[in-house]
Amino acid sequence: MIFRQLFDGLSCTYTYILGNEETGEALIIDPVLEKTEHYVRLLDELGLKLVKALDTHLHADHVTALGALRDRLGCITVMGRQSAVDMVSMRLDDGDVIELGDISLRALHTPGHTDDSYCYLMADRVFTGDTLLIRGTGRTDFQNGDPVAGYHSVFEKLLSLPGDTLVYPGHDYKGDTLSTIAEEKAHNPRLQVSGADEYAAIMDNLNLPNPKMMDVAVAANLTIGASVFDPMVEENTLCVAEARRCMEKDEALFIDLREAPERRKAGVIPGSLHAPYAELSGHIQPGGMLRELAAGNARTMILYCAHGERSALALRALKDAGMENVRHLGGGFDAWMRDGGPAAGR
Ligand SMILES: [Fe+2]
Repeated sequence: MIFRQLFDGLSCTYTYILGNEETGEALIIDPVLEKTEHYVRLLDELGLKLVKALDTHLHADHVTALGALRDRLGCITVMGRQSAVDMVSMRLDDGDVIELGDISLRALHTPGHTDDSYCYLMADRVFTGDTLLIRGTGRTDFQNGDPVAGYHSVFEKLLSLPGDTLVYPGHDYKGDTLSTIAEEKAHNPRLQVSGADEYAAIMDNLNLPNPKMMDVAVAANLTIGASVFDPMVEENTLCVAEARRCMEKDEALFIDLREAPERRKAGVIPGSLHAPYAELSGHIQPGGMLRELAAGNARTMILYCAHGERSALALRALKDAGMENVRHLGGGFDAWMRDGGPAAGR
């Protein structure tokens, strides 16, 4: 595995790149907008293709690079189910697993610092975002923060991990780079408490000023998907009712862009073909599955994903490649299920 811990001096944010040497695929955790060029260059130098960009939570102290990386490199944006961010390609629940070849990350929902805080657990290490810092914990006084929830997240989800699990936090203001669960259990001053009430009393009396970037960062981070909207996409978006009418008249060929674990968990539109978004460029090239299907098929190709974000991006890519009879399902499989569309298990 290729592993990089990168630092943004302005917000004291740590960003992590994980790369799979065999597949050449990479993911990035908590990227900072101003560092986008640096990430793009480094990934290129390391020979890695970025397939996923994850945020541990909605950040208040820096603007995320999720949108910029998605637009530059075509990666999938990933956050927790609870996130209020407008357009996230893949939303995680507690226990969901993100795979990068044989590297896997388990999402742990750890509300407290914010209600959408997640930690990502790998075999020997955990990326704790602001839930657990080195000798500290993330503040709980804004963005639906909750010190009691934070206590349970830290004590039940994180401190129950093996003591030698490496802790890679989302920030450090003193220059420390990593710790372990055992070290934090023994020496983190916030964790030397008898219970949730004592922890909440400490957290409620920190009296911290708001982060300098808060007003700018939160607003910007809520709308990372804004650039997805373009007239071509709007024109070629089908609502669930329209897509179902196509299906009933046997005029639709559904293409599922989600990943295998998402399909297994949520189900699929019956009869749909699978073309994961990460493999899209291969499917669009001459000889690729979607290119062949578009050429030899009178039915309308309807792209869908979980929420309609990946399918909007893929629609643009297919149109740019000259494919005409393509639409995408607005709101994705989520909307399909909400509106009573038929589903099959997978
Ligand atoms: Fe934070």
